[in-house]
Amino acid sequence: MKYLIINGSPRKKNTWAMVKRAKAILGDSEFEEIQLMKEKIPMCNGCFKCFMEGEDKCPHHDLINNIIEKIREADGLIIACPVYAMNVPALLKNFFDHTAYLYHRPEFFDKKALVFVSTAGAGHKDVAKYIDETLRHWGFNKVYKAPIACGGKEHLETMEIDKATEEFKKDIESNKLHNPKFMDLIFYNVWRAMAVCEDPIKADAEYWKSTDLVNHEFAPAIKLNPIKKGFGKIMFFILKKVIK
Ligand SMILES: Cc1cc2nc3c(=O)[nH]c(=O)nc-3n(C[C@H](O)[C@H](O)[C@H](O)COP(=O)(O)O)c2cc1C
Repeated sequence: MKYLIINGSPRKKNTWAMVKRAKAILGDSEFEEIQLMKEKIPMCNGCFKCFMEGEDKCPHHDLINNIIEKIREADGLIIACPVYAMNVPALLKNFFDHTAYLYHRPEFFDKKALVFVSTAGAGHKDVAKYIDETLRHWGFNKVYKAPIACGGKEHLETMEIDKATEEFKKDIESNKLHNPKFMDLIFYNVWRAMAVCEDPIKADAEYWKSTDLVNHEFAPAIKLNPIKKGFGKIMFFILKKVIK
């Protein structure tokens, strides 16, 4: 298996130790680690080009696309970061800002992720939840989380790291794709309906049509159960009317 690790800590300490432990559990696999600090990604300048004209028009496209390509090639993604001022560190937030177009044009429907968040005492659960939500907006099929308060302790809470990593590993090896949550179906169909409205965002309309996602209640790689399929159909019908 091939795992891509994106580390949002500027130093190699608590978060790094969590990843190190996970790597030992994941065992005989290929790991590539991206230290966002070293990527030196300039701040998103809010030009809207990724949304309106396509992500390739982003002035920092080469740097961002290099990471996106690695996510495409990986069997699993690990995102690790500390809590800074009760949120993700700016390093990770800046990367997420550059990928906001993926909310409009989700693509990672067959991918699974593992999220590690370390903190002194607070904010870890909310930060892990935020990263989970971000990845699901990108289309991610399943996100496992281990948010840990390290406090002044010498050792990490290893049980939580081990449990999340083992579940993540088992799930990746199973090749099973999970049915989306209702919220995922709603967001998918919001952007699908936006792509067919009278005056769509050009880049979005092209993406939804060229991938043929526009004709599906959810990504066809995932076999929806009848309830979710019906829900997707109804959502698309309603959202088209609302957006019109
Ligand atoms: C700038 C900064 C802001 C932080 N903000 C918080 C915070 O809001 N809440 C908290 O409990 N810990 C906070 N911490 C502590 C870190 O989240 C914690 O020590 C973390 O485990 C560091 O991870 P690292 O060793 O991978 O850098 C902060 C640390 C720094 C440097």
